[in-house]
Amino acid sequence: MVVPGRQDKEEKIFYPPEDLQTNAHVPNFNSYLALYKRSIEEPEEFWRDVAQEFYWTEPPSGPVLQFNFDVTKGNINMKFMAGAKTNVCYNVLDRNVLDRDLGEKVAYYWEGNSPGHHQTITYTDLLKQVCRCANGLKQMGVQKGDRVAIYLPMIPELVVTMLACARIGAVHSTVFAGFSSDSLAERIVDAQCSVLVTADGVYRGEKLINLKQISDKALENCQEKGPLTVQKCVVVKHHGFKTGGTNERQRLQTPWNTQRDVWWHNMVDSESEHCDPEWLDAEDPLFILYTSGSTGKPKGVLHTVAGYLLYTYLTFRYVFDHHHDDVYWCTADIGWITGHSYIAYGPLANGATSVLFEGIPVYPHVCRYWEIIEKYGVSKFYTAPTAIRLLMKHGREPLQKYDLSSLRVLGTVGEPISPEAWLWYHDAVGQGRCPVVDTFWQTETGGHVLTPLPAATPLKPGSATLPFFGVEPCILNENGEELQGEAEGYLVFQKPWPGIMRGIYGNQERFENTYFKKFPGFYVTGDGCRRDKDGYYWITGRIDDMLNVSGHLLSTAEVEGALADHEAVAEAAVVGRPHALKGECLYCFVTLKDSREFTNVLVGELKSRVREKIGPIATPDFIQNAPSLPKTRSGKIMRRVLRQIARNDEDLGDLSTLADPKVVDVLFSQRCEAAA
Ligand code: WTA
Repeated sequence: MVVPGRQDKEEKIFYPPEDLQTNAHVPNFNSYLALYKRSIEEPEEFWRDVAQEFYWTEPPSGPVLQFNFDVTKGNINMKFMAGAKTNVCYNVLDRNVLDRDLGEKVAYYWEGNSPGHHQTITYTDLLKQVCRCANGLKQMGVQKGDRVAIYLPMIPELVVTMLACARIGAVHSTVFAGFSSDSLAERIVDAQCSVLVTADGVYRGEKLINLKQISDKALENCQEKGPLTVQKCVVVKHHGFKTGGTNERQRLQTPWNTQRDVWWHNMVDSESEHCDPEWLDAEDPLFILYTSGSTGKPKGVLHTVAGYLLYTYLTFRYVFDHHHDDVYWCTADIGWITGHSYIAYGPLANGATSVLFEGIPVYPHVCRYWEIIEKYGVSKFYTAPTAIRLLMKHGREPLQKYDLSSLRVLGTVGEPISPEAWLWYHDAVGQGRCPVVDTFWQTETGGHVLTPLPAATPLKPGSATLPFFGVEPCILNENGEELQGEAEGYLVFQKPWPGIMRGIYGNQERFENTYFKKFPGFYVTGDGCRRDKDGYYWITGRIDDMLNVSGHLLSTAEVEGALADHEAVAEAAVVGRPHALKGECLYCFVTLKDSREFTNVLVGELKSRVREKIGPIATPDFIQNAPSLPKTRSGKIMRRVLRQIARNDEDLGDLSTLADPKVVDVLFSQRCEAAA
């Protein structure tokens, strides 16, 4: 790695602002290099120093990292500080209240869907609420190791429940509240959850969502799949208490099963504000979070206690250059890993003050984000390229009405950001003075793995720049040979860092097959990557059968499964097509059964089938009738060709492996121009 030269005329490089460097944790490129070198050459000492920030009942004494990444040498495994004992909840709450005098500090400014709804929660408040919830869960019989499903909107009870689980050693499995009842059921069954925590309902913008009804449907669905593991369903009275759209609030029917359902307030109100934490092994499970899998069935990514705590703590501290007076805001939903690591655990481990936002960027108006930044004096702001593209569409005018001078660092995550969107973010939102940290990572990596540090790393728009401490990226070619210098290929890692996942819940074989089989000795991210002459990394996108729609990973197989579930469909194939706001959208080819006709009604039915099976985020933009699909002689669908049809790219190259090349002309002649 070298400092990219100022003399380089070809690309525009942005250097860290001097005022940020004055008291930054990593104040310049040389200090990044020195710390990076230490993290790689002396990992034991490096991580032991970080561990000293935390409270352990059994301090780390054995080896720091043990692992095997080579399937040919036995089971894949990674352990971090195994044998040490601690509790994540104690470290992110009690330690801040008791040892760091942060009890009165604001942990969250909760901002509701409607601008009139807000609430301030200090570290002491949060600790008390968490203890009550933890006691309530224990009363219900939840024990160490039990799985608790959480299907909640962005409300304080979501963080409270997660931390309550962490406190008693239960394993939370949070499911994004935009997922369908089928998706929720599938996740509950896979993790065999004993409790489900949900809410009556929530407004997203003007739209009211009856979460309890969806939850009930999910539980019914679980029962169809086998004996129901969920004993209790805890329901937060959220809609009933404090939310509402701008219109008169709609009434909501909250279906109720008196045997099983418990109101949240009834569960916590009589409980004590004290609850002794359960001291756990560093390698005990902390949570499961599902992510799309290329075979269609979601994978329960498992994270454990100590490695995840240390890694989210350190990445948050350095990547956002966190300081005591910061007000930090990450706009992600906690139902995704970004929210787990950078709304819940990372910020709390640092004793940070965060905004917790329930709403959407354009409700009740397109200035909502800017209004919130001004209202709370947000200094560090973290969002996704899809939101940036959406706001960019409205131009600079909305920004000019608000005082954004509190901003210091801007972050992005979730998908590659185009240089155009990067520059708009930097110039229009950051007023040219805030570094943009483009953080590349995955549910599986637990925290940032390729990322700039705002006061240290010269930035190139569109590049996630360089590895975080302890992370050694490699680029391989198709034959698995490691490429040096400037190169493009598969992004892989040869060694673990503390925050990497420990497995797929209940499925070691799938874990090994998915991530470690293709190139023995390496963790394979599934992303393509280019390294430039300065050693900077540029993510080129997924190179497996995954699509990234608005920053959310979807598997083509899962959507194909949902389409094929309709009785009119014989076969379906789904590919990505570039989309101005979503980045990528779903373009579906469906072959109907003989007697069926392709009509607008059917298109509508297919779309709602996908929404029901997966959720609104997976709604296809295009559905094309495909009398037949382009296949190789061995019957494999040629997705490359379908992608080109979807993009109207007629430069098809070699089609000699196709069984029937005429199919391609037919599909081209019938392609959808405008969204269905
Ligand atoms: C993509 C989200 C380019 C990538 C934290 C990855 C990115 C997948 C970036 C993981 C980025 C995430 N630049 N691509 N800065 N960040 N991705 O598991 O394809 O929801 O593999 O985790 O998002 O998505 P996941």
